[in-house]
Formats: sequence, structure tokens, C-alpha cells
Amino acid sequence: MKSLPLLSDRLLPPISAITAYDYPTARICDEAGVQLILVGDSLGMMVAGCEDTTSVTLDQMVYHTTIVRRGVTRAVVVADLPIHTYDTPAEALASSRRLIEAGAEAVKLEGGLDQIPQIEAIVGAGIPLCGHLGMLPQHVREEGGYKKKGRSEAEAKSLVEAGLALESAGVFAIVLESVVADVAAEMTARLRIPTIGIGSGHRCDGQVRVVHDVTGAFPWFLPPFAKTHGNVAEVTRNAVSAFLGEVATSHQTGFPD
Ligand code: KIV
Repeated sequence: MKSLPLLSDRLLPPISAITAYDYPTARICDEAGVQLILVGDSLGMMVAGCEDTTSVTLDQMVYHTTIVRRGVTRAVVVADLPIHTYDTPAEALASSRRLIEAGAEAVKLEGGLDQIPQIEAIVGAGIPLCGHLGMLPQHVREEGGYKKKGRSEAEAKSLVEAGLALESAGVFAIVLESVVADVAAEMTARLRIPTIGIGSGHRCDGQVRVVHDVTGAFPWFLPPFAKTHGNVAEVTRNAVSAFLGEVATSHQTGFPD
């Protein structure tokens, strides 16, 4: 089992991680025993209904981190640095500090070798940082879609190199998104820090999922790798329909005051 220099007593492989963007969801996930709660910038899609994460702002992340924090007593709370809030090392540090002040214990950013100066600035200031390699949702527009990473030998090699560089720069874990399973397994074997996969096979040190995918709360889109364990959208629709029926007949039947 890998040892974690940071947050070691609360993140024990296999690490369970899930996104949350609001108080009740965060509290339920925490009470259920999830080890890491990610205030993901996926809230741009799952909460705000945008096409991707590229319009999420730091102020929005600060607000959602604050309300998630209120619901969590045990899990490690990690907040995403949104796009263009870490373009320089100074900006990366200032943005990370705002998320930590809002209640995050660690922050996460997307990218590889290009992010080393930013990573060093954040980690150098004593802020725990999680990396994110593979498919980078903040760059989905340049990439032209959500594509699997590590298919070619060159891409696999650069993923491994980026992982090792991020580890040397001091990240405490790396999210691997949509990485070919064998490449994710190789990275997991070669890194001392844990990998947390999403769409990257089962041989990572942990798994992270978007809470709406897990609970079935966002019925309009489900990534191919996501497995749904609930039907929150249906339960909500049925409850609201029952309420509408009650209102429609309330003048005839009444209901308790
Ligand atoms: O924002 C997010 O939800 C994420 C996960 C996909 C890991 O970064």
C-alpha cells in the first residue's frame, strides 16, 4: 500500500472520492464515509447547466467550497482551481489561498509539465495540491471533445513523464481522467503518490466520480464509463408530480394545514 505524506490518516487506498457542490450533498457523502470530497469545477455543467467547465469563475468556486465545507466533518475537502485562475505562479498561489480560506484543505489543477512553476508556487507555500492528467476538461474546446488519453506510445510516455514530474514537484495525488487503463496502471505502479482514476480502469489507487452520475441526478447525459447507482432524477420527478397532483385537487380534497 502506498503511503501518503500529506493527509495520510484520512486517505487510505483504495481512495474513494466524489464531487459535491452543496451542503446537503456534501453532508450525505461525508456521512456515508467517502474519503475525499471534490468541489469540482464540473459544477459548471452539473449545477449551472453550461456546456463545459470553461466559464466557471473563482468566485463561484469560493462560494461552493464554503457551502460544501459546512457539511463536511471527516472527508478531505479539495477544491478545483478553475481555468485561467492559475496562469502564472503568483496567480496560482493567490487563487489557491482563496479556496483554502473558503474551507478547502487542498486544491487541484489540470495539466502537466507546463504547470510545474505553478505547482511549485502552491506546494512551496504549504498548500496541499492534487494534480490532474489525461483528459483535461478545461481544455475540451482546444481538444475538440472528451477523448481517451494514452492511446499512442508517445502519449503514454508523456503521461508517465508528466506524472513523475508532478510527483517531484510535490503534488500529494494525481487524478487520471480518461486514461487508457494499462497506462493508468503503469503510472500507478511507478508513482509513489496515489492515482485517483475516472474512466481510467480499476488499477488506480482510488476512484473519483461526479456525484450526479453516481446518484442518477443528471439524466440528460452520462459519460460512457459512469455507472449509476441511484435514480434521483426519477424520484424528484415523481415527488414533484405528486405535489402537482395534490395542488391540482387541493380545492376539492384539502390537505392538513
Ligand atoms: O471537476 C470535476 O468533477 C473533476 C473530476 C472529473 C475529477 O475534476
